[in-house]
Amino acid sequence: MLRGAAAGVGFLASAGVRGQDGSGRAAVEFPVIISTWPFGKAANLEALKIFDSGGTALDAVERGVMTAEANPAISTVGYGGFPNKAGIVELDAAVFDGSTLDGGAVCALTGFRHPVQIARKVMENSPHLILVGEGANLFAREQGFSGEETLSDGARAAYQKWIKKHPDGQGEPEGHDTLGQVALGSDGSIAAACTTSGMAWKFPGRVGDSPIVGHGLYADNSVGGCVATGIGEEISKVCGSFLVVERMRQGATPDEAIEETLDRIRNRPGQNPAVQAAFVALSSNGSWGAGAIGSNFHYALTRGNQTEVIEVTPQQRKG
Ligand code: GLY
Repeated sequence: MLRGAAAGVGFLASAGVRGQDGSGRAAVEFPVIISTWPFGKAANLEALKIFDSGGTALDAVERGVMTAEANPAISTVGYGGFPNKAGIVELDAAVFDGSTLDGGAVCALTGFRHPVQIARKVMENSPHLILVGEGANLFAREQGFSGEETLSDGARAAYQKWIKKHPDGQGEPEGHDTLGQVALGSDGSIAAACTTSGMAWKFPGRVGDSPIVGHGLYADNSVGGCVATGIGEEISKVCGSFLVVERMRQGATPDEAIEETLDRIRNRPGQNPAVQAAFVALSSNGSWGAGAIGSNFHYALTRGNQTEVIEVTPQQRKG
């Protein structure tokens, strides 16, 4: 179904980044929804349903990413997420509304499976942007959320295996497949959400980029939106999602903005050549981009009623 204006946006493929369809001029079908990783497909389909039932872009991304939060088979998000080195699942999530430039976030939340819902309540029902740890838990209870088991059977078994191998808790943290989603509605509204359990076996209290506005996510209706996945410490050091959106504001395409931001990460003095980071972005005209350092990054793209999962070819180190 063609939703909203057919604006005739030119989609230009840029070298090595498979974020565009390369088909020349194309009508924009709304909504446009982009998410990180193959599990973003279920999130996109859910977000599409929300748009279909009259929801806003913010409603769509909130409900969209909840699909992964509820899925115990996903070991990097919500229920199913692997715990910290003490065996406790600490969840991070954020929402950001490009219509109001307002957001909400929770970090190191424990005992609630849907941190993104609580993040939205922080935005709407508190004067704050970010709540962490026990304060986030208290706020969730005050908002009427009931506590739930957040350590899935699969995550418990993985932790038991890990702690047996690392009885002193000193193993390297692993895993960083954040679900980030950006949605653009036919009314021009853009919203973004991120949700993650962060790195498996992380130090308690560690927070990555995902719940930090400008790092893991950013959106501005007048420009576009962006979300990140990868090693949060490195994405945060360049204010990744904000940088992508600001480069788009200055005229870069989503692909160009992402590639420049990935270059900032790659070229940081002393950077580990094995660093992994990826971004997906939408511009307010409906064009999109994606790029990654590291292999095996896929994203889910929905235009109108069509949803596909696309692999991004990793970029070669430059210079
Ligand atoms: N990008 C997710 C994290 O580092 O926690």
